[in-house]
Parts: sequence; C-alpha cells; structure tokens
Amino acid sequence: MNKRAEPGAISTSTADLEQAAFWMPFTANRQFKKAPRLLARAEGMYYWTPEDRKILDGTSGLWCVNAGHCRPKIVQAVQKQVAQMDFAPTFQMGHPVAFEFAERLARIAPGGFSRVFFTNSGSESADTALKIALAYHRARGESGRYRLIGRERGYHGVNFGGMAVGGITANRKFFGPGVAGVDHIRHTHDPARNAFSKGQPKHGVEFADELERLCVLHDPSTIAAVIVEPVAGSAGVLVPPLGYLERLREICTRHGILLIFDEVITGFGRLGKPFGAQRFNVMPDLFTTAKGLTNATVPMGAVFVKDAIFEAFMQGGEGIELFHGYTYSAHPAACAAGLATLSIYQDEGLLTRAKEMAPAFEKAAHGLRGLPNVIDVRNYGLVAGIELEPIAGSPTKRAFDIYLKCFERGLLIRTTGDTIALSPALIIEQKHLDELFGILSQAIRE
Ligand SMILES: Cc1ncc(COP(=O)(O)O)c(C=O)c1O
Repeated sequence: MNKRAEPGAISTSTADLEQAAFWMPFTANRQFKKAPRLLARAEGMYYWTPEDRKILDGTSGLWCVNAGHCRPKIVQAVQKQVAQMDFAPTFQMGHPVAFEFAERLARIAPGGFSRVFFTNSGSESADTALKIALAYHRARGESGRYRLIGRERGYHGVNFGGMAVGGITANRKFFGPGVAGVDHIRHTHDPARNAFSKGQPKHGVEFADELERLCVLHDPSTIAAVIVEPVAGSAGVLVPPLGYLERLREICTRHGILLIFDEVITGFGRLGKPFGAQRFNVMPDLFTTAKGLTNATVPMGAVFVKDAIFEAFMQGGEGIELFHGYTYSAHPAACAAGLATLSIYQDEGLLTRAKEMAPAFEKAAHGLRGLPNVIDVRNYGLVAGIELEPIAGSPTKRAFDIYLKCFERGLLIRTTGDTIALSPALIIEQKHLDELFGILSQAIRE
C-alpha cells in the first residue's frame, strides 16, 4: 500500500519522503529519504534549508552557479523573456536571442571558434560533439574514422556516447558498452609522484603517449576523435601534468584525429580564463560547455566548433547539413539567462577572477595537508580535490561522513569516491574561504 501523501499535501517530513515519487538521480534514495537534506532558497554564496539554516555553498551547486545564486539580473532577464515569448522552434525557424547569444559567446571563445551549437546539458553537449566529429569525417569522405577514444576516470555525462567514452567504472558497468568502437587511454592520477602538487603536476606527460599506442593498435585512420576534460572534475579533480595536453594535441594533429575538450566544468572562468583551452593554451577542435553557460538558472549546453569543421558541413547542396538538434536547442529562456550571465561575468571580471583568487584558495586548500587521513591535495584555478585514505573495506565512507558533518555545520561540499571536491562560485571572498576551510578542517579532524 502506497503511503504517499496526496498531491499538493507532500511535506518534507521524513515520513512523507520515504514514499516520495521523486526517483532521485545519482542518490542513495532509501538512505536519503530516511534522513533528507533539503535546500529551499539561495542567494550569493549561500543556500538556506527549509528550517532556515544557512549553508555556505562550497561547490557552486554542482560546479555550475559560477556567478553565485539568484543574481537579480539573470532572474529578471528570464522573467522578461518568458513573458515575451516562452518558446520558439529553432528547426527551420529562428529567434533573435539565440543568434545574439551565439554571437556573444563566440566573442569570448578562443580565436577560430566562431560557431556554437546549443544543447540542454553537459551530457547532450558531449554526445553532440562526438556526433559532429563523426559526421565531419564523413562529410570529408573519411567514413572509416568511427572510433572514439576517452580516458579512464573521465566524465562526459550519462547519455550513450558520453557514457561510452567516460571512464568512471560505476557509471558504465550497469549499462554495457553503450557504443561500439570505443577505447580509453589511462588516467593521469599519479599520487606516488605528484601528491600535494600545486597547480599542474610535474610528472606524467608520458601518459599522453598512450594515445600513440592506441593509434598503433587500432590504425589511426579509424579514429575519429579523442575526448578529455582539461581538468577532470567528477572523478576527483585531476589536473593535467605539465606538457600532457600539448602532447595529446600533437598526437591528434599528426594523425588527423579531432581533439574534443569537455569544458562543462572548466568553462566560464573556473580556471581563470573563459575556457580551459585558453588557460592551458592548448586548442582543441571542438569543446563542450553547459553549467556556467547560464549560471545554471536555466538548463543549457553549447558545443563550440572550429570554423574549418563548420565549413566542412557547408559544402554541396543547401539542404539540412546536420541531422541533429533538440526541441529546446537555444530555448529563449535559456538564451536570455545566458546573455544576462555573460554580462555579469564580463562586468564583474569573473571570467578571470579564479586566477586572482587561486593563490588564497591554494594556500587554504594545502593548509589541510597534515590533517588525519589527508593523502593528497590538488588544485587549479578555483577547483580543489582533497583525497582521503579510504577506510579499509568501506571505500567512500570516510569522505561521505565528512560531507554529512559539513552539512550539519553549514557547508555544502561534494565528494567523489574518497575525494572531496571544492568548486566555489567565482565571487568567493576571503571571508568565505575562511568559513569554508574552517568548517571543513574541523570536520576532517574529528
Ligand atoms: C565534464 C563534464 N561533462 C559532462 C557533464 C554532464 O553534464 P550534465 O549533468 O549537465 O548532463 C558533466 C557534469 O558534471 C561534467 O562534469
């Protein structure tokens, strides 16, 4: 017998939530519903619970609210757009806000990336980029290039393409291979040589040579694209070793393989430049974004494409060039949110602020070194990973217990495996750093 409350009568009491209809994503549903953690409102660097407890947001939501919560300019822009035109199709139709937003985005992208394809999420951006890569080779008569290469511990969302090239075991093992013709290079995590690196680790450029090995194994003329995150986020903040991205780029160029950067986390100022490609000065052929694109106010993603790739599609007859798109590609409300977000980023210098705040953030993060069970601290821009020694026989428990303690004390962090990941909003100030690391170090100590 379903004990669920009548619609409209649902409260947030534990008794109601235990039978709630909401099947929560990436959540231990039964555990959560016995002891829910709820957020009811947000502003700037903070959330508030339904009981009005103030929670410092150490993760900008899910690495996405880069300008801080509930920015009035974004809220008003969305309200205005929804009232003026709630929806318009972008299949064989258009609306001005979409064109304006794409244009504005192209202006902050690295040179030569003047084309933008809109999606609704990071997962859709990953699958879109992979499909564009495959179709690009076909458009040029290289249909033998069908293989896609990802990296162990990579995360490219949960759709079939992104899952297949992704390298987080739990996200793959329940679903089978997803897509044929996929292989992976090894990850770059090397705590034996790189533990407690500040910024890019010194060791590991040679991990990029794995790609050369796969080229030999598969024949490079069968490989369409390689996809990596410039800094791997979801698998525990893995910063690329010095020279690593450059070497991947060289190998791809040598073999005519497209290099895709997944910038869903690293895009929009997280590393101290608009995009990771600019921060590391390594240019991919396509890059994916989402999250900070609209400050997460309205779901949206975008794939940035090099001009030459776009041009390859614009040959021949003038029919539909790419049989791909989403009902909500360039949704007016998302474009309005994105335009307002971009104005805030630019007016407040947020696309480069992570670089200014990085030294203070780094100092605070590395201040955790020496606390019980802290086996690594790594950081870049406004992202840090704090890795803990797993409890024997109970992996992930140590980090999750700290997560719970932090929430009790007014701090939201994120954990992945036994790594704590921090990615505060780019508006963070020293007083927030003090509060964040004060609560976190106390929780780690206990
Ligand atoms: C690098 C990367 N790619 C893709 C995704 C998937 O994005 P979404 O959850 O919006 O589908 C994420 C989400 O965290 C991500 O970090």
